[in-house]
Order: sequence, then structure tokens, then C-alpha cells
Amino acid sequence: MEKTIDKKIIDEIIEKYKNPSGKVISILEDIQEKNKYLSKEALEYVSEKLNIPLSQLYSIATFYSFFNLKPVGKHIISVCTGTPCHVKGAPQLIKTLERLLGIKQDEVSEDSKFFLTTHDRSFSLTAARCFGCCSMAPVIRIDDKIYGYVTVNDLPKILKEYGWREK
Ligand code: FES
Repeated sequence: MEKTIDKKIIDEIIEKYKNPSGKVISILEDIQEKNKYLSKEALEYVSEKLNIPLSQLYSIATFYSFFNLKPVGKHIISVCTGTPCHVKGAPQLIKTLERLLGIKQDEVSEDSKFFLTTHDRSFSLTAARCFGCCSMAPVIRIDDKIYGYVTVNDLPKILKEYGWREK
């Protein structure tokens, strides 16, 4: 079991639900909320506790896009790659973010949801489609905050709001 979540927490979560096996999604959601992602070890433990095949848990976790099977960073940066944002420079924003954060797009996670998380787990970089603010293209979102009309020159200043420091 990884240090990031312990069995006691999972036991408490399972305990919360009256009919645990019928509430698998809620249990996985709660575990993810605590741990930010569903580790292999956590899924194995739930499988064992609820007597549900691990493959079934993986099917659920990969079917729903809100589940993460990989560790995610403290802050999640989503670059909109919808057509208006793409045309106005989303690819350049992604390239610059990769450079500033020291991560590379070729290190794509299995589920392709995150390009990569920085080694210190400060940031995860991902692409998303249309936040509904196309008039402000190109748009990025960090956690719940939307930034519009973003240029590559704005990025260091924006990242500094989240504790990023130039190396
Ligand atoms: S395409 Fe980027 S916000 Fe709509």
C-alpha cells in the first residue's frame, strides 16, 4: 500500500456506505478525493475488501473520465485545445508550459488524461476541449480559475501565482 493513502482511510470510506458493493463508484470517488487518484494498491485493496474483481474496478475507473489512475499534481493546468483556442495559440502555450515545468508531452499517461505531472507533483498538465469562453481564446484553466487571452509571455507570471519558481 502506498504511503499516500492507508487502508484505514479506505476502511472508513467503505464503512460509510450501507451496501458497499452497490456503491462502488461513490467509494472510488471518495478514495480519489482523499488521494487525488486511484492507485493500483488502493484498487487492489477495495477489490479484496468488497470481493469485486480487480478487472471490474479498472473498467469502472477507465470508463468514467473523472477518475485518474495516475498521480496528479497539486495544481491542474488544462489548456483548451478547441478550435478557436488552437488557432489562437494553444499549441504554443502547451510547448511553453512543458518547458517551464520541465515535462514532456511524450510522457503521456496510459489513460491520456494527463500529459504529465511534474516530479515534485506540483503541477499536472492536460488538454481539454472548450471551456465555453471561446471569445477569450486562447484559454487555460488552473484548478477552477480560467485565464483568457493568454500569451506565452503571461505564463511565468500566472504560474508564479501557484508557487512556481523559475529554475
Ligand atoms: S475553444 Fe477554447 S474555450 Fe472554447
